[in-house]
Amino acid sequence: MNIGILGAGNVGKRLGTGFVKSGHRVVISSREPHNSKHVSWRQEAGESGDIASFEEAARFGEIVIAALPWSCLKNVLEAIDPVYLKNKTVIDVSNAVHFDNGPRLLLHDTSAGLIVQKLLPESHVVKTLNTINDKIMIHPNFKEGSPIMFMSGNDNSSKDQVRALLKDIGWTTVVDLGDIRQSLLQESMMLACLISEIQLQSPGSAFALLRH
Ligand SMILES: NC(=O)c1ccc[n+]([C@@H]2O[C@H](COP(=O)([O-])OP(=O)(O)OC[C@H]3O[C@@H](n4cnc5c(N)ncnc54)[C@H](OP(=O)(O)O)[C@@H]3O)[C@@H](O)[C@H]2O)c1
Repeated sequence: MNIGILGAGNVGKRLGTGFVKSGHRVVISSREPHNSKHVSWRQEAGESGDIASFEEAARFGEIVIAALPWSCLKNVLEAIDPVYLKNKTVIDVSNAVHFDNGPRLLLHDTSAGLIVQKLLPESHVVKTLNTINDKIMIHPNFKEGSPIMFMSGNDNSSKDQVRALLKDIGWTTVVDLGDIRQSLLQESMMLACLISEIQLQSPGSAFALLRH
């Protein structure tokens, strides 16, 4: 599958490499696709990976992943011709947080996922992967067991696509929380995970569900 990634930061590059290694073709994107900071990623990705502008990545992707800081996500999405995102699954991994006096959610009574869906009314937004540090986003392995990943979105066939993609990068237990309004839960869970990591001095944690 062709995957376009908006962003070439920690998450964009991590997912880009993960999806290339699992057999997909990927275009990540940046304001400066030719900047030398991207050379090593391009070399590692090989023929199945490339880096381009945001709009070119959106056009390329059969599925598009929005992997940008909350502070610029709206502006980037609004600058892309909506025709390139129309009827596509758009995965939103973003978190709207600020770090003054400890991490806090920026949004109240709404969520980044909901806002992204409102910005892209003709796309099928699926929220996922926002609760996990990029360093353990691909094939997460813990000696205690397998972590779970949550997703939410309004379109069931888009969620099926995302479930398959998550499986490709090692997420075997994916819980569908419901429609995109449930992204509010996922964004709160991210914060709970982040604060737990700080309290327990245990970076690189993930959620698991203990079952009988
Ligand atoms: N990092 C994690 O572990 C993690 C985990 C889960 C979810 N998330 C969420 O995923 C999203 C991406 O996180 P990240 O860590 O990958 O962020 P990041 O490394 O800071 O992302 C940098 C990317 O954002 C672009 N960017 C920065 N400012 C911009 C602006 N003003 N206009 C346009 N593009 C701009 C950069 O473009 P240039 O290349 O042009 O500089 C680069 O592609 C965030 O919403 C974050 O909360 C992060």
